[in-house]
Amino acid sequence: MLEVRGLQKSFGGVHAVKDATLDLKEGELLSIIGPNGAGKTTLFNLISGLDLPDAGSVKFLGQDITGAAPEKLAGMGLARTFQHGRVFGNLSVLDNVLVGAHTRLQAVRPTTPIIGPLMEFALAAIRPKSVRDEEAALREEAKQILARFGERLTPRLDHPAFSLSYANRRRTEIARALALRPKLLMLDEPTAGMNPTETGEMQEIIHDLKRGGLTILLIEHKLEMVMRLSDRIIVMDNGARIAEGLPQEVRRDPAVIAAYLGHRETGARTEAAP
Ligand SMILES: Nc1ncnc2c1ncn2[C@@H]1O[C@H](COP(=O)(O)OP(=O)(O)O)[C@@H](O)[C@H]1O
Ligand SMILES: [Mg+2]
Repeated sequence: MLEVRGLQKSFGGVHAVKDATLDLKEGELLSIIGPNGAGKTTLFNLISGLDLPDAGSVKFLGQDITGAAPEKLAGMGLARTFQHGRVFGNLSVLDNVLVGAHTRLQAVRPTTPIIGPLMEFALAAIRPKSVRDEEAALREEAKQILARFGERLTPRLDHPAFSLSYANRRRTEIARALALRPKLLMLDEPTAGMNPTETGEMQEIIHDLKRGGLTILLIEHKLEMVMRLSDRIIVMDNGARIAEGLPQEVRRDPAVIAAYLGHRETGARTEAAP
């Protein structure tokens, strides 16, 4: 599903990603762990088209997508979330999720060149039955996606996203990514800033998505969660992969223990995970 080969990215003198190579099979959950500054988020940015790599290539579903625009990738079924959570603050929770589904709209998007955009505008204004039906179906689906998060978001469908707690903003962002019906979901520290209860809930949700067959690339600091969810783990340090393997292999790797598990700050966070 995803083939990353020799990706490199520097910012001035900082080699954020030196040589990233990974393969992800359909239905697999691959986690990327490593200390802060290891280059994990930059790697996500390179894969998802937010940053251009200095070298290397990315293939998604057999197609070369190196340097492709994020909106093109979204159309192909690649969805991601951001480490610090990005939602549209002035839109409601439900509308945030509907934004995620917009690439899938058919009825309001005639494919005719030139007149197409005008038709789209006209259809949005007139709202014939085909358009209303499609909107209603998407709304229903968005509500179902939000229901994955139990009672966290469903009572807040009409609340503006800016009024949500940090954890709920992060849940809304994941719901928006799911509304794309992604083939590949990339999550950048989905439990950052969450307490142990909230982290446990998020772990269950990710586990359910994986059981449903979704392919997932996960950046996560909470090691217990990573160990439970992952089929495979890649460990990054200083922009490069220092280890890769099954959870139990990675846990015993001396290079990993030195670079990551021995890290006092992340060690403390691991204790906090359920
Ligand atoms: N846009 C940027 N400009 C300059 N330096 C950056 C930028 N993005 C990331 N970096 C640097 O690249 C390195 C890797 O960062 P990042 O990918 O965010 O690491 P991680 O997600 O593993 O914590 C860090 O040293 C960071 O300061
Ligand atoms: Mg990061």
